[in-house]
Amino acid sequence: MKHLLSLEKLANADIEKILRDAIIYKRERARVDRKPLAGQTWALIFSKPSTRTRVSFEVGIRELGGQVMFLNTNDIQLGRGEPVKDTARVLGRMLHGAVIRTFAQSDVEEFAAFAKIPTINALTDGEHPCQILADIFTFKEKHGPIVGKTVAFIGDGASNVARSWAWAAGKLGFELHIAAPRKYQPPADLLKRAGGKISCSDDVEKAARGADLLYTDVWISMGKESESAARLKAFQGYQINASLKKLANPGALMMHCLPAYRGKEIDEETFEANADTIFTQAENRLHVQKAILNWAVAQ
Ligand code: CP
Ligand code: NVA
Repeated sequence: MKHLLSLEKLANADIEKILRDAIIYKRERARVDRKPLAGQTWALIFSKPSTRTRVSFEVGIRELGGQVMFLNTNDIQLGRGEPVKDTARVLGRMLHGAVIRTFAQSDVEEFAAFAKIPTINALTDGEHPCQILADIFTFKEKHGPIVGKTVAFIGDGASNVARSWAWAAGKLGFELHIAAPRKYQPPADLLKRAGGKISCSDDVEKAARGADLLYTDVWISMGKESESAARLKAFQGYQINASLKKLANPGALMMHCLPAYRGKEIDEETFEANADTIFTQAENRLHVQKAILNWAVAQ
């Protein structure tokens, strides 16, 4: 049984296979002969809003021959307090796979353990593995191999997206510079476990210097809205903009996982100047997740 719950737990060989297969899924999208999910019904079980993840998984599952249902947790008994492990044991007897977006990382892990069907993390507070796999695919597509390169993550260094970048850096041999206010840096034990070449400081310019990719995420992640005022204050200056780009390597890419808040983590001009890369990242969620689904159901 294969799950994609965390980049930490995904073997390098599996990452490589997914990224390799995604090239074919992208190039041969019009061809309809690969149906690894034929006869299967998958559910998307989401406790947080989503545009890209929801649509890319729904389209991807259908294109791979499967049926898909979307379950907002407010509409099922889970939202009224039915335990994750009970929900998982019910759904595991009916579905062939699950794609889950929720808060606690432990909830996707518990679901996978009890449902005993392939389970994919579509974002938790702890990780956003599908996003980072699509981002790395996009980097390779536009800029070549990521090994030996430098990625600068500017903003909420404790966010799910930043944490998944840290696991990827440890595994894939690129340098990661995280610039975040002290209170919003990734936990020291995570950095230690991730290994690799990761540096973390509150110095945005230091992080951007010599980077091949400048990356940012929202200042206020889903579920953190009650901290908005403090976050807006703490993250002032943690922005990707033209002056920061000057410090990066010539030809450096700029990426954003979306949704973007102009004037906060990125300015309008920089966003629009890099819109092709940013929306290719979004598109690549579809191709990479088809490769993930194919990997998850393969024996
Ligand atoms: N980047 C991303 O996961 O977007 P959604 O929240 O729209 O799914
Ligand atoms: N860190 C963001 C990512 C959105 C795709 C959030 O969790 O809201």
